[in-house]
Amino acid sequence: MSSIRVKACAMTAAVAALFLSVPSHAETEPETTDPIVINGGELELPTVAPAPAHLEGVFDQIYSGWLFRDAATQAMQMDDFENPGMIFVDQGIDDWNTVEGKAGKSCASCHEDIESMKGVRAAMPKVNEAGDLWSMEDYINDCRTSRMQAEALEWDSDRMKNLTAAISVQSRGMPMDVAIDGPAEPYWEQGREMYYTRYGQLELACANCHEGHYGDWIRADHLSQGMTNGFPVYRLKQAALVSQHNRFRGCIRDTRGETFDMGSDEFRALELYVASRGNGLPVEGVSVRH
Ligand code: HEC
Ligand code: HEC
Repeated sequence: MSSIRVKACAMTAAVAALFLSVPSHAETEPETTDPIVINGGELELPTVAPAPAHLEGVFDQIYSGWLFRDAATQAMQMDDFENPGMIFVDQGIDDWNTVEGKAGKSCASCHEDIESMKGVRAAMPKVNEAGDLWSMEDYINDCRTSRMQAEALEWDSDRMKNLTAAISVQSRGMPMDVAIDGPAEPYWEQGREMYYTRYGQLELACANCHEGHYGDWIRADHLSQGMTNGFPVYRLKQAALVSQHNRFRGCIRDTRGETFDMGSDEFRALELYVASRGNGLPVEGVSVRH
């Protein structure tokens, strides 16, 4: 108990110190904006893009979270053999080809090669035919339950993360391009409101850290713009793949606040809004973070 309290106090002090300091982006922009060169040049992922129109007056440029990580972590993402997330991509592809459920089908029975999923990640989350905002996890579970007659997977289960990783990699390098108008607009508005809502005992909104203070440090953490184009990410600290909703939950917990459930409507809306802030950055998933 005492160690938890000490940790929380250290965090509180570090965060308080940060927010007493004056933000000055001129000094905290990334020093370089080199692309992520994968496998010695097989693929180059830009790490900077012009900010989308809806962020006018907020950011000129948007940056990959990769730029804010240390050289060793960056290097892991530059080589698919060094990237620990790639093992889970392979497991996801095995799952893709595995027959399960009463209909006697695998994902491949209908979608054929997983390469058919190219482009899907860049547009997620999106509004489905019934008008509901769905994340990739929802589409996967809908196929499992209604088309394979198999059990739904838990949002944050290893199998679900392996599948989202395997599907995301098919879009690697494609610019994020989620729709925010038409039927998506009310969800996007809800997500935007959440982004600027102060949570927890520290009364911090996502924007306080990722908009007002990117480039600054909270203890050992170099703050990024909090983009999601690298998800699912392999986190060295957790030694596991981490989903977007799990990351959101962790960030809200760091404000010592009550959080939403993974797979909740609130987190879907937040996912859409955060994704839209990164429209134009390439899909990196599976990226490596510390
Ligand atoms: C019985 C056939 C069938 C099976 C089996 C199936 N799907 Fe689907 N899936 C579809 C159809 C039909 C759609 C909707 C049309 C489309 O986008 O292709 C769809 C849509 C999707 C989408 C959304 C694509 C988009 O562009 O919006 C994803 C992601 C997906 N499926 C993943 C999976 C995964 C993962 C599995 C295995 C766990 C699976 N599907 C199994 C038929 C199937
Ligand atoms: C107290 C400051 C703080 C607040 C408030 C906060 N975060 Fe974070 N967040 C961090 C830190 C520290 C990291 C890890 C370093 C980094 O990537 O910025 C992080 C990482 C992230 C990442 C991963 C970025 C990547 O490239 O891997 C996302 C996405 C994210 N946050 C979203 C959010 C959202 C959405 C909210 C609001 C619900 C939020 N954060 C609130 C501190 C914060």
